[in-house]
Amino acid sequence: MTNEIRKVLVLFAHPSQRRSEINLPLFQASQQTQGVTCVDLYQEYPTYRINIDREQNRLREHDVIVFMFPLYWYSTPAILKEWQDLVLEYGFAYGSQGTELFGKTFLCALTAGGKESAYREEGHNHFTIRQLLQPLEQMANLTGMQYIAPFALFGARTAAEEGRTQRHVEQWRKLLEALVAGRVDLNAAARCDMLNDDTERYIVGASR
Ligand SMILES: Cc1cc2nc3c(=O)[nH]c(=O)nc-3n(C[C@H](O)[C@H](O)[C@H](O)COP(=O)(O)O)c2cc1C
Repeated sequence: MTNEIRKVLVLFAHPSQRRSEINLPLFQASQQTQGVTCVDLYQEYPTYRINIDREQNRLREHDVIVFMFPLYWYSTPAILKEWQDLVLEYGFAYGSQGTELFGKTFLCALTAGGKESAYREEGHNHFTIRQLLQPLEQMANLTGMQYIAPFALFGARTAAEEGRTQRHVEQWRKLLEALVAGRVDLNAAARCDMLNDDTERYIVGASR
């Protein structure tokens, strides 16, 4: 925790935004938050021709990197994988000279169609979200970034009719503002399973 202003980069990946009920409001809330740079990857790269220099510069210029996406087949939509494969080059993100990401913070903000009860070892999907995202956790470890737990919404297709969307978006806004202000207890946030259970717990000075 630094209490210094931190620059946050949200990399948004949703291939069918016209049908999005929850990621789009999350992305729009991110766009309205000061100190946050928002990139819509599918809009910017509809043919997947990712500009590596531009993306590496974006990473250099930010302290906190967020992947924002709907869970697709227990992973990210394809463009985020392509982005990783192209942008996180040897000598930039890893290797003895590849230290550009050292000291940054990384997290996922995702939504899942399945219920939270399905994402347990004894549940329908057998693994928790944190377990399923382990390749991204290890990507962060290898590149020297601090990985903090995901911010997740479950049962995404029924969130609007069940009145859960607004609160989730508000929680996200609070978390983002706290990330910008350097008021997130990163060590506590790194240890838990998810940040959405009790978001204020990880924000220093938040009323609960
Ligand atoms: C191709 C595809 C794959 C999906 N895979 C999963 C999955 O593995 N697990 C899950 O819980 N939901 C899965 N879903 C549901 C989406 O995660 C869900 O529709 C999305 O989070 C809703 O967010 P949105 O309203 O912003 O689109 C999948 C949906 C699609 C279209």
